[in-house]
Amino acid sequence: MRVKFGKKPLLYTQPVLIICTYDREGNADAMNAAWGGISDYDEISISLSKGHKTVQNILDKKVFTVSVATKTQVAACDYFGIVSGHQVKDKITSAGLTALKCPDIDAPYIKELPLTIECRLESYDLEKEILKGKIVDTLIDECILTDDRIDPNKLEAISFDSANSSYLLVKEKVADAFKIGRTLIK
Ligand SMILES: Cc1cc2nc3c(=O)[nH]c(=O)nc-3n(C[C@H](O)[C@H](O)[C@H](O)COP(=O)(O)O)c2cc1C
Repeated sequence: MRVKFGKKPLLYTQPVLIICTYDREGNADAMNAAWGGISDYDEISISLSKGHKTVQNILDKKVFTVSVATKTQVAACDYFGIVSGHQVKDKITSAGLTALKCPDIDAPYIKELPLTIECRLESYDLEKEILKGKIVDTLIDECILTDDRIDPNKLEAISFDSANSSYLLVKEKVADAFKIGRTLIK
């Protein structure tokens, strides 16, 4: 039997994305977003409320980075989601982390978050509050690589559990994608 839960944003998993931007004065900001993801090979789409300092910065600078939140930095990542750059100008250093400038675009990334996607603004729909970004490059810290591949056990990405307002660890491999299904092809 199924229990009807109504209109709810309940997907497992939902990412925890940390979006970093500079404002006009060069202050680095970071925010937490769970309502987003990859929407094409070179595109990311995120539902972002227009009141956020992050949106103001992206509309000004036309660039931003998206990093994967991790277990080690979970407190800082949550902090980025409950405090605004409108009030705290140095959210990243206040959280004890380090903002570095990207090599390709005028946007910051966080040294302590090892997987970062550099993005250029493609569009922001002021009515629907949906941001689309084109992926420019991906910056991976060597510390999460094993044999030149991203190792999820080293990355320790976290996921947002909307039903229980908590963060979950994304870790264990269960099967090979594009292969395990072949066992069912008749
Ligand atoms: C777990 C979590 C997920 C969030 N997801 C989103 C989201 O998808 N979209 C959004 O607009 N705000 C989201 N927020 C709220 C923003 O992160 C928050 O308002 C933040 O303070 C905005 O920072 P800024 O004003 O410095 O840009 C989320 C917050 C948390 C804690």
